[in-house]
Amino acid sequence: MNENSHWPHSPAKGGMNQGNAGEPPRSHSNAPAMEDLLTARISRRATLRGGLGLAAMTLFAGSGAAGRAAFGSTAGTAVDNGGDLQLDFESVPNSTADAVIVPEGYVADVLIPWGTPILTGAAAFDPTTNSAADQARQIGMHHDGMYLFQEPTDPDTGLLAINHESITRDSLFPAGRDETFFSRRPTKPEQVRREMAAHGVSIVKLVRDGDGRWSQQLSRFNRRITAMTDIAMSGPAAGSGLLITPYSPRGNKTRGTLGNCGRGYTPWRTYLSSEENFQNYFISRDKDEELSRYGITAKGAGMLWHAIADSASVPAEDERDLFARFDLTATGADASADWRNEARNFGWVVEIDPYDPSSTPKKRTAMGRFRHEGCQPSRAQAGEPMAFYMGDDAPGEYCYKFVTADKWNPDKPAADMLDRGTLYVARFNDDGSGEWLALDISQSSALADNFASQAEVLIKTRLAADLLNPTPMDRPEWSAVDPATGDIYYTLANNTDRKAQVNVANPRASNTYGHIIRQREEDANPAATTFTWDIFVFGAPAAADADTNISGLTKANQFGSPDGLWFDPRGVLWIQTDNSDNAVAEATNNQMLAVIPASLAQDGLIRPETQAHLKRFLVGPTGCEITGIELSADGRTLFANVQHPSGGFPDYNDLPPRSATLAIRRLDGAAIAL
Ligand code: FEO
Ligand code: CA
Ligand code: CA
Ligand code: CA
Repeated sequence: MNENSHWPHSPAKGGMNQGNAGEPPRSHSNAPAMEDLLTARISRRATLRGGLGLAAMTLFAGSGAAGRAAFGSTAGTAVDNGGDLQLDFESVPNSTADAVIVPEGYVADVLIPWGTPILTGAAAFDPTTNSAADQARQIGMHHDGMYLFQEPTDPDTGLLAINHESITRDSLFPAGRDETFFSRRPTKPEQVRREMAAHGVSIVKLVRDGDGRWSQQLSRFNRRITAMTDIAMSGPAAGSGLLITPYSPRGNKTRGTLGNCGRGYTPWRTYLSSEENFQNYFISRDKDEELSRYGITAKGAGMLWHAIADSASVPAEDERDLFARFDLTATGADASADWRNEARNFGWVVEIDPYDPSSTPKKRTAMGRFRHEGCQPSRAQAGEPMAFYMGDDAPGEYCYKFVTADKWNPDKPAADMLDRGTLYVARFNDDGSGEWLALDISQSSALADNFASQAEVLIKTRLAADLLNPTPMDRPEWSAVDPATGDIYYTLANNTDRKAQVNVANPRASNTYGHIIRQREEDANPAATTFTWDIFVFGAPAAADADTNISGLTKANQFGSPDGLWFDPRGVLWIQTDNSDNAVAEATNNQMLAVIPASLAQDGLIRPETQAHLKRFLVGPTGCEITGIELSADGRTLFANVQHPSGGFPDYNDLPPRSATLAIRRLDGAAIAL
């Protein structure tokens, strides 16, 4: 299911073309006209050979101070496997049951469903009576990317930072509660405030009891960040005239974060939240290339928060602005007198310090503005710069990386390290090579000829990237970095509305099921400007012919629309799906699979002869996507999110269905999956 088909989620709506993530199809200037892309791809299959299959799994060698240093330091689960790891569970069957399915010997506990009180004084969950103020003290909706901050000495405690991507309006306003709402235009400020409070990010303390069960706990770290929270604009675009609004005359702050989807984290122990579908919250009756390129329309996409601003029930000017800012239409010559720039304060990576609940989150403009998905750091290596790998999730958009100017110093991390560095966009060449193209106005005459400043390049990242001829991709979602090799993997969800954009990296003319692509930086250097690449696996239904089911998937591992993606520190690659309206969706609800690339034969690609290494670990309940993944520091609990379920999950009673986190453990208490 793509973002729009559940945005704001209505179970009755469904059925939208999943290839379109909210934009009309576009053509790019470099669309190739190639005859036999598939043959070209297969002939290059050995591009990445020579290392993957032999990779020694010396986890965190030379990076012991990285944020994940906790892993491996806990007795009983340290991993030094010499590369012969094997998955130790039986693939679970396809399921369309309204239930969570995990392998035999495992159990999935439900944690922090929407509405769970996490701040002092929060009301208990009751969707028929909870107010906007209550929601601002409870867990939000639509759990997505997350990260668990743990101390090596305390494997039973953690701080979970978790995104709330969007809302399910019908659950937020159950029938009978607020009839005026069902006009599909909000009529009371309280309604909109409640919706805003269900968005954003939660920080919540988790503790594990002696039986291995996790629960949330009140703590001084617990926090809600919503669509109303003050957030600083930081980095090269901060202070730009292009970001000025009536709320921010100096162009250095905004209110709230929206569309918080994929996640990232840093070795200096902060959380990165990716703003994805921000365009759906805004409308503009103006027309220009930038609005069009970012998918902002006169009609909007369902939220219509601006509509309340003119209501007689909004008393004060400042409150009216909280809503009015979602209408970007210019009113005159003075850009600081209206909200034309407000959408430029969204579409960024937001850095949050989970250990300081009074800190102001910062939108890191150096990392570019697009529909951000994953933000996976490279392996942290002392004395070297770091890279953060990012996707822009829409058909025909690009893969990016940000390389820090500062070198990683585990003893004394540079302050605001994400404010200085270079943003690159990826070009995948037909011969299996690739280039990172710098979005740096000082390095490109094309950029210098078309943009006034580096700030403008970053604010209009998509337009700037177009000038460099990167490769249009099939909806880049999460990125993952193999801890053993540094190789980068990206999920490409699907693309069924492609026009002339077929290319070797995205070889299917109509890509219903998506694929996973892999890069290797030159010399395994995250700052490299060249790489090699290959396609790791193609999603497909088991019954499809060999032209579609290229990886030879079977009923035990058929999947479509890969989205969430993560290498755990042991080298297990976890793949999560957000798939609907196709043959795989008819066979099974959304799911999570696992594979250990280092254990695959030869070139480490999933092919018919090796596909059995790809195993289905979990199937979710009705209507949900599975997204967000974490492993406890001792490897004994795997966390994953059920987002926008539409059946009875998790309460199976009169309550509306709720997004929630699953805490999955083995009944014998051993490490997950191995
Ligand atoms: Fe929010 Fe691209 O998934
Ligand atoms: Ca989603
Ligand atoms: Ca996603
Ligand atoms: Ca998604």
